[in-house]
Amino acid sequence: MSKGVSGFSKWSKSEKISWIADKYFADPKEGVKIIERYWHSDTAVQQLHDEFIENTITNYYLPLGVAPNFLIDGQMLTIPMAIEESSVVAAASKAAKFWLERGGFQTEILKTIKSGQVHFTYSGEKQELQSYFDTIKPLLKSSIADITASMEKRGGGLLSIELVNKTDQLAHYYQIHATFETVDAMGANFINSCLEKLASVFKENWSMHNESYALEHPIDIVMSILSNYVPDCLVRASVSCPVAELTVKGMSAEEFADKFCRAVRIAEVEPYRAVTHNKGIMNGVDAVVLATGNDFRAVEAGVHAYASRSGQYSSLTHAKVENGQFTFWMDIPLALGTVGGLTQLHPLVRLALEMLQNPNARQLMSITAVAGLAQNFGAIGSLVTTGIQQGHMKMHLLNIANQLGANEHEKRQLVDHFKTDTVTPNTVHTVLQSLRNTNQ
Ligand code: MEV
Repeated sequence: MSKGVSGFSKWSKSEKISWIADKYFADPKEGVKIIERYWHSDTAVQQLHDEFIENTITNYYLPLGVAPNFLIDGQMLTIPMAIEESSVVAAASKAAKFWLERGGFQTEILKTIKSGQVHFTYSGEKQELQSYFDTIKPLLKSSIADITASMEKRGGGLLSIELVNKTDQLAHYYQIHATFETVDAMGANFINSCLEKLASVFKENWSMHNESYALEHPIDIVMSILSNYVPDCLVRASVSCPVAELTVKGMSAEEFADKFCRAVRIAEVEPYRAVTHNKGIMNGVDAVVLATGNDFRAVEAGVHAYASRSGQYSSLTHAKVENGQFTFWMDIPLALGTVGGLTQLHPLVRLALEMLQNPNARQLMSITAVAGLAQNFGAIGSLVTTGIQQGHMKMHLLNIANQLGANEHEKRQLVDHFKTDTVTPNTVHTVLQSLRNTNQ
């Protein structure tokens, strides 16, 4: 059996880097150089990054782009987006401009409830457990008063706690299902602290309730954790305009509306398409979630669970034409925060929030949903007209040029050339070769 490394986290940063470089890189010196090139020149900024996680060796940059011209509920916004995919910001900007001229985006916060569960097993009488829960419920609520006090001042806190019998799905499995309002915080730490306290009070008092019975039928806490499934923390984003105003190149407005609605319908019924369709939505959503320092893994998990809530994975967006009016909308669960976590810690996150005019969590839910809807509008618009590759490859041109080692002058020439021609790695290679031959 191979021996692992021990005490690694206690090593200095340079010890960690040397160890990795010697062990894994064909050219250790070059590897170290690359790692160090991405260190921040301001040591205070670097220290901040070092302390976000364990074993930081360097920084991993993503571009932070901006998509202007978003009119959302009457407010003009420029949306910051952290993403590496070349066409995403361009598509968002294009969709924003398109809808700016057609009344902009509307949003509505449908609900803002989050939940968490104390999962436990118990093999005794159900009735005995229920009567204990009913008796202890006021104490459970008051036991977390210390934790909830400041959240309550801000208008949030615990909303409800219920005992849920899950024994028909798993033998002896019960849970305390608790719901929360966390206002402007994403609320993970708050919810988890409440749940752990509820669990310990629930367990401790069981033996006092009925000592001999409790000895025979203990409450065994398995875990206490928030749920990232947030179907009750929901925002709706929509756009709408007369069909006649859906002017696009190469197709009548009626045909575009019809094809667009059919494309959405396909994503509603066909999971293979729905996953890609929703991936495009998440291009916009994740980019804003990342730029604003929120937890994109939590958002992703919650969104895809919501997209499967009927038992079949389906489109998050919907479209219809009624009485000559085109409407395109999406309900999406988004548990986001504008206080706590990275939002105060990361200077770029603070700046991104300032760019968005310091939204509260509800406003950030709206903005993020709009970024997703805009992205989906752009993707479907391209798919049902020119196809996705034309725009995508055009945006990818500089990446290909960089891969081929093109200099600035050559890149300008390539951009000029591919205004009309189709971009593929091969065509870029050929054109670059011929430019180099003529430039010589
Ligand atoms: C690519 O990142 C996203 C798309 O595939 C989304 C879609 O197909 O709707 C273009």
